[in-house]
Formats: sequence, structure tokens, C-alpha cells
Amino acid sequence: MSQRPQSVAELTQTLRAGGYLADRGLATALFVALSLDRPILIEGEVGVGKTEVAKVLATVFGRRLIRLQCYEGIDTNQALYEWDYARQMLQIRALSEQKLADETAVDRLFGPKFLLERPLLDAVRTGDRAVLLIDEVDRADDEFEAFLLEILSDFQITIPEVGTIKAESPPLVILTSNRTRELHDALKRRCLYHWVGYPSPEREVEIVLVRAPGVSETLARKVVAAVNRLRGLELAKPPGVAETIDWVRTLEVLGEPELDARTVEDTLGAVVKERDDLELVRANLDGIVRGG
Ligand SMILES: Nc1ncnc2c1ncn2[C@@H]1O[C@H](COP(=O)(O)OP(=O)(O)OP(=O)(O)O)[C@@H](O)[C@H]1O
Ligand SMILES: [Mg+2]
Repeated sequence: MSQRPQSVAELTQTLRAGGYLADRGLATALFVALSLDRPILIEGEVGVGKTEVAKVLATVFGRRLIRLQCYEGIDTNQALYEWDYARQMLQIRALSEQKLADETAVDRLFGPKFLLERPLLDAVRTGDRAVLLIDEVDRADDEFEAFLLEILSDFQITIPEVGTIKAESPPLVILTSNRTRELHDALKRRCLYHWVGYPSPEREVEIVLVRAPGVSETLARKVVAAVNRLRGLELAKPPGVAETIDWVRTLEVLGEPELDARTVEDTLGAVVKERDDLELVRANLDGIVRGG
């Protein structure tokens, strides 16, 4: 049985010790997920710590992080398991050279030695010693989502040649989505849900200081204020927390203690990554630096 937090406050503390600042809503959702063995779907803006929370949870609870990165066209071979054809072929060659190809030798070709374990099979086998991160599930297509649903409902995988493998106690499953498309109700119903928005400025300053230790709090505050103004500009790609951290680090590396119109202009590439957005920001530089 793996270690579990006793309270939301304890979980918040543990995450903080691992360098992750979770607000009460997220900490509560994660606590419930851990306590009830339920998968949790985390949706939210880009770069607000959805993926990171899974990594930190794995670290602080001494679990293994098993990551399934979703993409368009991902299928069960990449997610579940595959037979190692190349090795099977070599084995067949060796067997036929030695004229050893009886029936049991053929059966052994479909044994554990030739099975390539992919993240979901790995997670079912590792059970509650793992955190399974199914990242950016909105990028996978419908059929894959239906297949995930099956796995998430009973944590068991049947390999015809090997048999059924079942998790004794399920891993902690964290799904993330950027909401590039709606997920199916059936998948959502299986999961707890939490939306991660941008942190409050106070909280974001704290995150910056945790993630970029050594930077001055004054600079962190200025950058966070500027980033918040950028988020108010209706950019195509508004900056996430990751960009805030990048920007602070950029200024630090350049030895720029101040955030004025010139430094913003020079370092904009750390926060704004779309051509049209750049133009919009350049037209509003003074407002970004000073507010108003
Ligand atoms: N609450 C937080 N506590 C500590 N660090 C954070 C927090 N939120 C964000 N970060 C920082 O922001 C970075 C980006 O986070 P992450 O990659 O998890 O974002 P994401 O939500 O998964 O983004 P994307 O939607 O692009 O995948 C992390 O590496 C981490 O340094
Ligand atoms: Mg992510």
C-alpha cells in the first residue's frame, strides 16, 4: 500500500515541499483522487502547471511517473503493448537453423520476453506505486478516448496470448487537456475534474520565487504585473506561468534589474510567441510596463 496524505492541508504542504504551489481547489481535488482511487482530469490554460503537478506528485510520494503523451493518431500499440517483431524474427531464424521449431518454441515467441510494454500496461503492472500521466488527452482521437475509458474503468488488460493482467490497486491517474476539443461525457464521468486558471498575482509571485530562486522579489512582482496586463490584451497565445518564469530568468541572465519599455521590447520573445501578438504588444508597450 503506498503512502497517502491524511488531509488536504498535508497534501498542500507536501506539494509545496516538492516545489509546487497548489491552491485549495486543486489540492482538494487531488486529495480526493488519491483517497478514492479516482482518475482526475485537469483542464486549463496553457502553461499553468497541469503537467507539472503530476511530476511533482510522483516525486513527493516516491511513485514512478509513467507518462503517456497523447497525439493525433496515437493507437493502442503505442499506448498498451506491442510484440517485438524484430526479436521474434531473429528468434525464429535461430530456431529454424537449429531445427528446434516445435510447438512450445512457437508459443514462447508470444511470451513476456518478446512483449514491449507501453505506458498503460506498465501502469497496470505497477499499480499504486505509479502516477500515470495521460498528457494532453484532447489531442488523441475519439476511438482512443473510448479505449482509454475501458482501461480507466477496470484497470485490466487482456493480451490474448498471455492472459489478463489486473492492477491490484490502481495507479493515481492524472489526465490533462488544453481543451482544444470537448472530451466525451463518458470519460468525464469516470474522472474527478478540476479547472486550473491563472494564479492570482500574489500566488504567481510566490511560484516565480520558488521556481527561480535568487531573483529579486521586486523584479518578480513587476514581471507578474506585466504578464497580467499581457493576459488582458486578448492575445492569441496569452502567456502562462511558464512564460512568467522564463521572462524573469531572461531578465536575470541579462542583468536587467528594471522592467522598462526598452527591456520589455528586447526580451519579449520570452513571453510572446506569435507574430500578431508581438505587434499588438509593441503597440501597447507603455501600458504593459506601467499599467493603465
Ligand atoms: N502552481 C505551480 N507551482 C510551481 N510551479 C508551477 C506552478 N504552475 C506552473 N508552474 C511552473 O510552470 C511550468 C509549466 O507548467 P506545465 O508544463 O505543467 O504547464 P501545463 O499546464 O502542463 O502547460 P501546457 O498546457 O502547455 O502543457 C512548470 O515547469 C513549473 O515550473
Ligand atoms: Mg502540459
